[in-house]
Amino acid sequence: MSATSAGRPERAAVLCGTGGWLPRRKAGNDELADRLDTDDAWIRTRTGIRSRHFAAPEEATSDLAVEAGRRALANAGAETADAVVVATTTPDRTCPATAPLVAARLGLTGAAAFDVGAVCTGFVYALATGAGLITSGVASRVLVIGADVYSRIVDPEDRQNAVVFGDGAGAVVLRGGHASEPGAIGPFDLGSDGAHEDMITVAAGGSRLPADPARTSRAERHFVMRGKEVYRHAVARMAGSARTVLDHAGLGVEDVDRFVPHQANLRILRTVATDLGLPFDRCATHVETAGNTGAASIPLALADSHASRVLRPGDRVLLTAFGGGLTWGSCLLTWPSLPPTPEPSHHGEEPNP
Ligand code: UT7
Repeated sequence: MSATSAGRPERAAVLCGTGGWLPRRKAGNDELADRLDTDDAWIRTRTGIRSRHFAAPEEATSDLAVEAGRRALANAGAETADAVVVATTTPDRTCPATAPLVAARLGLTGAAAFDVGAVCTGFVYALATGAGLITSGVASRVLVIGADVYSRIVDPEDRQNAVVFGDGAGAVVLRGGHASEPGAIGPFDLGSDGAHEDMITVAAGGSRLPADPARTSRAERHFVMRGKEVYRHAVARMAGSARTVLDHAGLGVEDVDRFVPHQANLRILRTVATDLGLPFDRCATHVETAGNTGAASIPLALADSHASRVLRPGDRVLLTAFGGGLTWGSCLLTWPSLPPTPEPSHHGEEPNP
């Protein structure tokens, strides 16, 4: 059983801006191989990743989220939003949520602001939440951000996860509009299976087990993922959710111009595309140069694909994510006509020509 939006109301949330931000520090595979028992060939073959970006020691999730949010608002030509939703697994602090600080730093004090926690599916859940705020009439413009600094929770000595995860933030702006407009979002499919909550976990630091160094192990205080098992679930759930949302829209795989999945691992993306019968050249990939950036990965892939003009106005886009929880989700949208933007790793002020 999963939650699937029934039909598309006339009033719809319409995507009208995109932006992304990767921290300046880029780390190639060889740099990781210098300090871990790994090598470039293993990382490329098993994950497709060539490099990733890491936040500076003084940078937190909100810093990345503000940069991505600022770019998305500028791309939308908007100075305000009445709600800010931040999807993250690595909030600045356990309390309060990160979104109010992000809103204040963007000059949006007074806006509704809260975090959504659905690990790597977080952005799709946040998008559904933002769209719901609009279709219910609670908000007229919503900034939806996915931001994570996994390098703070991954054990730097854990070779499996240290090579896979990177830091980053991506954002979109939603406004009220009509279901037939380019940019209109929906339907959605969202689901979870908490019976497997221990497959992807940071065991300590919550109300179940406080992160007391005297009472917890190093592994319990860091991000742990049962990679092989997660891989199998990721393929099955992403393909299943993608099919569900397409069925709901009365569409087939052949109607999808661009597939923008959570950037977990290039092998997973290839397997899901094959399972769906979708030619891999329709799949947007960003994992090669950003790694797995958690909740940031889909909005970063959108920002990247828009900046490089891989996404064209009118393209029918399918988003599909999977993550800890376990959680999964998909949604459909038509890509709107947006002003050009810089790539998320471009730290200058002007968009690429
Ligand atoms: O974002 C949320 C969802 N996340 C995902 O969907 C991620 C899903 N899982 C994966 O992407 C993959 O499972 C990993 C990339 C994490 C691991 O790849 P794998 O092909 O599943 O490797 P494995 O765990 O089966 O390990 C194969 C071998 C093991 O050695 P033995 O036992 O065969 O001797 C590992 O110890 O590779 C070893 N290994 C490494 N070797 C070199 C694990 N990590 C590394 C490494 N460098 N970094």
